[in-house]
Amino acid sequence: MLPEKHFLGKQKAEKLLQIRVELKKNSYPLYIEQGSLSRLGDILKGRQALSKVVLVTNSVINDLYGDTVRESLQAVGVEIKTVEVPDGEEAKSLEWLGKLFDVFVEFRMTRQSGVIALGGGVVGDLAGFAAATFMRGVSFVQIPTSLIAQVDSSVGGKTAINHPRGKNLIGAFHQPKFVLIDVDMLKTLPERELKSGMAEVIKHGLVMDSGLFEYMENNVAKILSFDLQSLEQLVSRSCKNKATIVEKDEREQNMRAILNYGHTIGHSIEAVTGFSVFRHGEAIAIGMAVVSRLAVNMGLLDKDCAIRQNRLLADYGLPTAFPDLDIDEIMDAVHLDKKIRSGGKPRFVLLNDIGKAGVVEDITDDQIREAILGGGL
Ligand code: NAD
Ligand code: GLY
Repeated sequence: MLPEKHFLGKQKAEKLLQIRVELKKNSYPLYIEQGSLSRLGDILKGRQALSKVVLVTNSVINDLYGDTVRESLQAVGVEIKTVEVPDGEEAKSLEWLGKLFDVFVEFRMTRQSGVIALGGGVVGDLAGFAAATFMRGVSFVQIPTSLIAQVDSSVGGKTAINHPRGKNLIGAFHQPKFVLIDVDMLKTLPERELKSGMAEVIKHGLVMDSGLFEYMENNVAKILSFDLQSLEQLVSRSCKNKATIVEKDEREQNMRAILNYGHTIGHSIEAVTGFSVFRHGEAIAIGMAVVSRLAVNMGLLDKDCAIRQNRLLADYGLPTAFPDLDIDEIMDAVHLDKKIRSGGKPRFVLLNDIGKAGVVEDITDDQIREAILGGGL
């Protein structure tokens, strides 16, 4: 049930599993293979004539993987400047965006230079936004190191920083030139981050892939013990799903919105708690529990499906209960979320079934409050 391998032809990157994101002149490959990090230089050389790159990362990831990246790039004659940003959401800020621009200028980047993000979703979103805006756009490569980044954030070109009152409010679409996914790097991921990443994989299962959802139901112990074969299955299946959606709706005019399942409430929880209490996936898990209640209350979703969703979230150690937060502050944040404001009408992604989602318009504040305060199903 999981994806067949697509092998490249005679290129340097031979034998790497490749999933293509077809976006006309912005098309790009996702290379997925254990141990592929050390082949970065060859892949870059085969695809891009970049003489200089800024490597954006944080100190944890730089210590673990920075040398491999630098050695691989230096071997093909690329000049590199490494920048470490703070570890955590605080890096997705105007302050750190400005610091990156200072480095870009100091390093004399031109449009023939590039930015490489080596890290989780935070590094990818910040570095991607810097690449999108510097000189009106320079080349960008994603090397995602967390599960969230490997299954979701590195694919599809969404880049952003946060505003103190709202998550990802300042951003751009900027597709990478390629994405290099080495599942081996997940071995060093803290357990809490693995679980947080599972929220986005569960989201993919819920909104579009009941087979993936079942795979996660049947392989909890293996996945939570960092079994790399299972994780590679999750990554390749999620990437394939995401590529399919992004190809059909790059700029989120319609169907890409389903990937925001649980995110309006999740982002509001993150903003109200100062981006520092919950991991992104934990907040999204609570968001998915809330909106499943909304769908059940509206008669759109069978209660058993919502229970099955919440059981899987709990199996992966994710929270589903709404935390003790001021509901008015949450509602303010909900109304600031860009995903809800289209045409001024509150709208949410809701499930009809496991594997089936749609956007529902005209939801009232009372319905949202009821779903938040409603407790367990
Ligand atoms: P993160 O980048 O903060 O990484 C999580 C933690 O894991 C960090 O402490 C990081 O240092 C550590 N880490 C990452 N890889 C590691 C590794 N291989 N070994 C050891 N430690 C490692 O957070 P995240 O969960 O990766 O991403 C969350 C962010 O992604 C949020 O800001 C969210 O808004 C964003 N996001 C963006 C998109 C998109 O489409 N652009 C999609 C989903 C999430
Ligand atoms: N993470 C949602 C999206 O990329 O559209």
